[in-house]
Amino acid sequence: MEPTEQISEGMVLGLLAEAQDGWLSGEALSDKLGLPRVAVFKQIDGLRAKGYRIELLPRRGYRLVAMPDRLTALELSPLLTTEELGRTVHAEDEVDSTNDVARRLADDGAPHGTLVVAESQRHGRGRRGRAWVSPPGKNLLFSLVLRPDLPPVRAPELTLVAAVAVAEVLRDAGFEARIKWPNDVLLEGRKVAGLLTELCVEGATVRWAVLGIGVDVNAPRSAFPPELVETATSLAIVRGEEVPRVFLLATLLASLEAWLGRHEAEGFAPVRERWIELSATLGAKVRAEGVEGVAVDLAEDGALLVRDASGTIRRVVAGDVEPA
Ligand code: BTN
Repeated sequence: MEPTEQISEGMVLGLLAEAQDGWLSGEALSDKLGLPRVAVFKQIDGLRAKGYRIELLPRRGYRLVAMPDRLTALELSPLLTTEELGRTVHAEDEVDSTNDVARRLADDGAPHGTLVVAESQRHGRGRRGRAWVSPPGKNLLFSLVLRPDLPPVRAPELTLVAAVAVAEVLRDAGFEARIKWPNDVLLEGRKVAGLLTELCVEGATVRWAVLGIGVDVNAPRSAFPPELVETATSLAIVRGEEVPRVFLLATLLASLEAWLGRHEAEGFAPVRERWIELSATLGAKVRAEGVEGVAVDLAEDGALLVRDASGTIRRVVAGDVEPA
């Protein structure tokens, strides 16, 4: 396909997605695109062939009814409300790990906000050397290249920023999301999203950070390996119906951009405040890194503060938190 046709298809989608009551006349489309009516019709036909359902009614015009559940720039771009995140997209069918692709792109100078998204990963990576397993075409697997203006010691804040941004999107969509320290997003006490941040530090600056996010969106219970069946879940399992991934991705990028911007402008304090409100860990009896007690607070630097049996406040800075 000619690149110009791709641009027009994306523009047609953008205009249909923005249309006030959903309807846009053929005339309005042709005016806004600067294309003759017959060319607009060709674009609509092309989109239909790609799986878009577009209705046409006399006197009303066109209306976008359904989109294919695919994660490419064509689907995502018309839904983006961000300025930087996702404005450069690398959408792949299968990769080793979206974090690995993003790291390479970051090393090669990819701009802040570059998005790598894949339908499946051969070697998806989780925190602490674990694997991240996800059935193809069901979930969200993506990584963002970030170029934060932060000293390396403050870089761990980024994952907490992202956890807040993800949890808020899920809550806005009607899910009771909470955050388990440091950055697992939970629904009904089970993990639904995980975050993996990787850094390249040069001297006193962060050259780039890659923020990798996996959200279990439409995975059925049967897709989880036996060891995760009791501890993990997906949005579809909780809701009882599938959730459109491309809308969710666009909303996640908007929330991430807003929270990263807030973090840059106001520092960690507002993030910490929201993290505390959303926490599933504070107030619970926990065991982590040889410390056992009640989780009482999140420190100014993101460490978990735990009061042990002797009343001493102990700092937990890494590792997994388990119920005690
Ligand atoms: C964790 O909770 O252990 C972190 C999981 C992070 C998984 C995501 S999926 C997209 C990106 N690519 C990876 O290989 N990992 C992250």
